[in-house]
Amino acid sequence: MLSIDLKGKRALVAGVADDGGYGFAIAKALAEAGATVCVGTWPPALNIFLNLLERGKIDDSRRMPDGSLLQFEKIYPLDAAYDALADAPEEIRGNKRYKDVGDFSVAGLAQRLGQDFGDHPLDIVVHSLANGPEVKKPLLDTSRAGYLAAVSVSAYSLVSLVARLGPLTRPGASFLSLTYMASERVVPGYGGGMSSAKAALESDTRTLAFEAGRKYGVRVNTISAGPLASRAASAIGLIQRMIEYTRANSPLTRELTAADVGRAAAFLLSPLAAGVTGSVVYVDNGYHAMGMGVEGPGTLGGAA
Ligand SMILES: NC(=O)c1ccc[n+]([C@@H]2O[C@H](COP(=O)([O-])OP(=O)(O)OC[C@H]3O[C@@H](n4cnc5c(N)ncnc54)[C@H](O)[C@@H]3O)[C@@H](O)[C@H]2O)c1
Repeated sequence: MLSIDLKGKRALVAGVADDGGYGFAIAKALAEAGATVCVGTWPPALNIFLNLLERGKIDDSRRMPDGSLLQFEKIYPLDAAYDALADAPEEIRGNKRYKDVGDFSVAGLAQRLGQDFGDHPLDIVVHSLANGPEVKKPLLDTSRAGYLAAVSVSAYSLVSLVARLGPLTRPGASFLSLTYMASERVVPGYGGGMSSAKAALESDTRTLAFEAGRKYGVRVNTISAGPLASRAASAIGLIQRMIEYTRANSPLTRELTAADVGRAAAFLLSPLAAGVTGSVVYVDNGYHAMGMGVEGPGTLGGAA
């Protein structure tokens, strides 16, 4: 029987701090397929996440089909805005949420992975993080600093991860990120340069697939996911409207779940997808294929 088999593989999922987002769902799907999973967590969210785990608050979400709890082999502090510790300003390094966690930069993560597991510890790297400090502002009102921060954390961070973790990979390794259709179509409200960041992320996926494919033999893909009420998305403010609108106007009117994205990610990160790289793969109930909504006066459709 053809199945997704990730036994003996190690994954790093960057951007997990609770059980509500795509990163957690991908981590769980990878573990269900047999992979060992490490995560990278943003220092300001690290203590809250550790508390959730220790107090059993997310045990229901961690429950695996065999009854055991999803385990994380390591939880690394990671602020993907910084390639090296020296790049972080003093006010960050001295901040109470950062000062005791060690080297939280991308280079620090690479170094810790090497120390913990040897020279080639990785088969899978997932980039499931984004931040746009001015996401609620229209692009027209976005400051240069806000725009560059969005692109730095949400897009350049993938370049940095591939550059620094590529050398740590084993043969057949694969990278995956998460993008959103606002990169290519206008989604009012997805502002602050986040739409620009996602456009960069998708373009970089193609270029990195070529460059890192030739250099390290790795694959690089991105999933364009439909809207989900994660913690990050709730910060946008109109996520429920986005979910309802997308559901009403998609080819499939079933609810899109984080697990849908988790399972598609497990496939793309598995040897079954050995020939897939440089791709934007839509996991959105087909919404991206629509050219006109089905709701509203004078339209044709009707939800099934
Ligand atoms: N939720 C959606 O509707 C949706 C749709 C399409 C794509 N995505 C993408 O999915 C990915 C995961 O987001 P999510 O919506 O599941 O929310 P999430 O809150 O689960 O994940 C975002 C994570 O990014 C982390 N983060 C923020 N700044 C960081 C930094 N500087 N360094 C390291 N980590 C940082 C946060 O702590 C959080 O854990 C993002 O790339 C997002 O843009 C989300």
